[in-house]
Amino acid sequence: MPAPDVPFETQINKLWGHIRGLHVLHLIRTGADLGWFRLLAEAGDRGLTPEDLAAPKGLHLPFVRVWWKTAIAWEVLDPLTDGRARLAPHFDAILAKPGDPRFLLPYVIATLDHFQQDLATHTAAMADGAVRTFQEHGHAFAEAIGNTTAGLHVLMARRLLPEIEEARSALTDGGTFLDYGCGVGGLVVQVAKAFPQARCAGTDVHQDGLEQARRTVSAGGLEDRVTIHDGNEWQGETASIDVISMVEVLHEIPEDVRAEVLGHCRRLLREDGRLVILDETYPDDADLRSPEAALAVQTQFNEMTWGNVVPTAGQQATLLEDAGLKLIERSTIGGIFTLLIAAPRGE
Ligand SMILES: C[S@@+](CC[C@H](N)C(=O)[O-])C[C@H]1O[C@@H](n2cnc3c(N)ncnc32)[C@H](O)[C@@H]1O
Repeated sequence: MPAPDVPFETQINKLWGHIRGLHVLHLIRTGADLGWFRLLAEAGDRGLTPEDLAAPKGLHLPFVRVWWKTAIAWEVLDPLTDGRARLAPHFDAILAKPGDPRFLLPYVIATLDHFQQDLATHTAAMADGAVRTFQEHGHAFAEAIGNTTAGLHVLMARRLLPEIEEARSALTDGGTFLDYGCGVGGLVVQVAKAFPQARCAGTDVHQDGLEQARRTVSAGGLEDRVTIHDGNEWQGETASIDVISMVEVLHEIPEDVRAEVLGHCRRLLREDGRLVILDETYPDDADLRSPEAALAVQTQFNEMTWGNVVPTAGQQATLLEDAGLKLIERSTIGGIFTLLIAAPRGE
């Protein structure tokens, strides 16, 4: 196949863009650490000057000015008149609103604090295939991941579950909810708050996550309605759960135990129950550049050395089918996530 006729500048500019991307992450990190995005969000259309950013903490103004001009150049800030600038459109939600489903700042922080270190092991890993699992990454990592998924938890508890008729009616009517692979407990707490009549539980195999999840539940005063189970020993009661969720979990389960885990979900579900999976779907080779596959491709790359394998749509369907579950709905959420809704297959 002849090489396509692409200008040299187009290609080299792609690489310049990637190099800039790493710089942008650090620029955002600095702005977040210094509380500037909160100040800018509060100022709204009025905007702020570099002096406004420097003054509260008595910061070094020449450096603050460089940050501020660079943030304008890289479209994080939009310039106004009188030497002021404001956050670019929607960047208040993206960088300054914890709890907003679109709040992406935690992903920036996890990338710099954690993913970057794993990516740096790739050259060596190509030779030895060394794996450092999610669970081997420790407490701060589990918490950082819980922060990256917090927006998904709000989305799941406030929009996706209420939109599934069977889930909504069961959970508003005192039904049971289980978050499988609950991590540090963000979703189980959100669901308990969104459905005050529901009895909720979370299970995970990661001790650091379980400890944090128990603290989160107790901080929310929800111990009477939310239980956290150690998945290394807990089996649960057959046909006892109305809704099981898995958020960013399926692709994290080692391939050789996925069938067992989905079989467990099938056993736990009531006959009219629902398994709701929010995850990523790895593309077939022809779709590697599809925008819908962008996050899955990136996840597979940076989680390769955790031992994770992001399943394709075909693999997801087979796993559900083999576990005695039927796939009721597959949809794309936010252009990059996959929502799978499954139910026990009647005999
Ligand atoms: C990316 S984290 C997501 C955590 C949580 N669902 C969230 O949204 O923040 C994946 C979680 O799946 C858990 N996990 C992996 N294999 C599991 C298994 N066999 N049983 C239960 N949890 C598992 C991991 O320990 C980890 O906490």
